[in-house]
Amino acid sequence: MRALVAVLPGDGIGPEVTAQAVRVLNAVGQRFGHRFECRDGLIGGAAMNAGAAPLPDASEALCREADAVLLGAVGGPQWDDPQAAVRPEQGLLGLRQSLQLFANLRPVAPHPLLHDASPLKPSLLEGVDIMVVRELTGGIYFGDKTREADAASDLCRYTVGEIERVVRLAARLAQQRRGKLTSVDKANVLATSQLWRATTGRIVGEEFPSIELETLLVDAAAMHLLQRPAEFDVIVTENLFGDILTDEASVLAGSMGLLPSASLGEGSRGLYEPIHGSAPDLAGRDVANPYAAILSVAMMLRLSFGLDAEAQAVELAVSDCVSARVGTVDLFGESGVSTTQAGQAVITRLQEKRLDTVA
Ligand code: IPM
Ligand code: MG
Repeated sequence: MRALVAVLPGDGIGPEVTAQAVRVLNAVGQRFGHRFECRDGLIGGAAMNAGAAPLPDASEALCREADAVLLGAVGGPQWDDPQAAVRPEQGLLGLRQSLQLFANLRPVAPHPLLHDASPLKPSLLEGVDIMVVRELTGGIYFGDKTREADAASDLCRYTVGEIERVVRLAARLAQQRRGKLTSVDKANVLATSQLWRATTGRIVGEEFPSIELETLLVDAAAMHLLQRPAEFDVIVTENLFGDILTDEASVLAGSMGLLPSASLGEGSRGLYEPIHGSAPDLAGRDVANPYAAILSVAMMLRLSFGLDAEAQAVELAVSDCVSARVGTVDLFGESGVSTTQAGQAVITRLQEKRLDTVA
């Protein structure tokens, strides 16, 4: 197949990890006979430094034209002035909204060999395989905001339609997995959460009767995620709760540098990005973990391009690297390799694998 991929490296370690992910994408193209045309665009602080808006028109147009978007990370101390009206993060939020990417998929399945890398007891991590579906274009992130000298407010608003579409997507995923859906809210306090809970119950009851639905308050969910992570299958939740819970869930995987994500809308176009941030302290040193960005490419291959065998080949190559204890310092400490070497290790495994073993 042929596809156009918009690449928005962004800030901090973004350019370094996306560079490896693009190399992997090209290696997949060569190996499997596809042509992925990658075109770069500016976003976030990098765009602001170039005198443009955090989401320049040219980047937005490129993403609209593209079949998929690969993004690195946005933000950093350079732009962290709390008084600033324009921030790098607005680029990412604007893009999610502009492309109507209402569902953010964040899989968390710790590699058995990395159980020691997590502060949790290895026995708790046995069999953990969670898919968090975070609502991405509504809620408190996008409600009206006010700021006065001595007061500020953020409006949290959800419509039934916004809840229905993300719950349907999550329930469909649960159907393809272990058939369990956990909806997380704060329905004992928030009106939006009461609407969320009622809508979720109705949609699952009417359209997905075979799905086992569990509802949890977000404070309890934060605890259960560490106490009994293996019992979760698909978790669906609103924008802010999903942001917080997925950082927490990344602790299960041993490193934030391992977790990819896909942001999807109604069509096949998606935005793929690691869940980690721009990690300014690591930037420019060739030490950041590229696996989350590379695994984001795997999600792109599967979810935007329907290339399942290719996606699996990438995932297997990363998993083989981890099994061989080839990875960056966040995973393997002193025996860690560089960002570039980790990317190359994945490519080498992709090239070596017999095709009939990955289909
Ligand atoms: C994430 C990030 C973003 C978010 C920031 C950079 C705006 O934390 O993708 O999880 O809060 O959504
Ligand atoms: Mg976050």
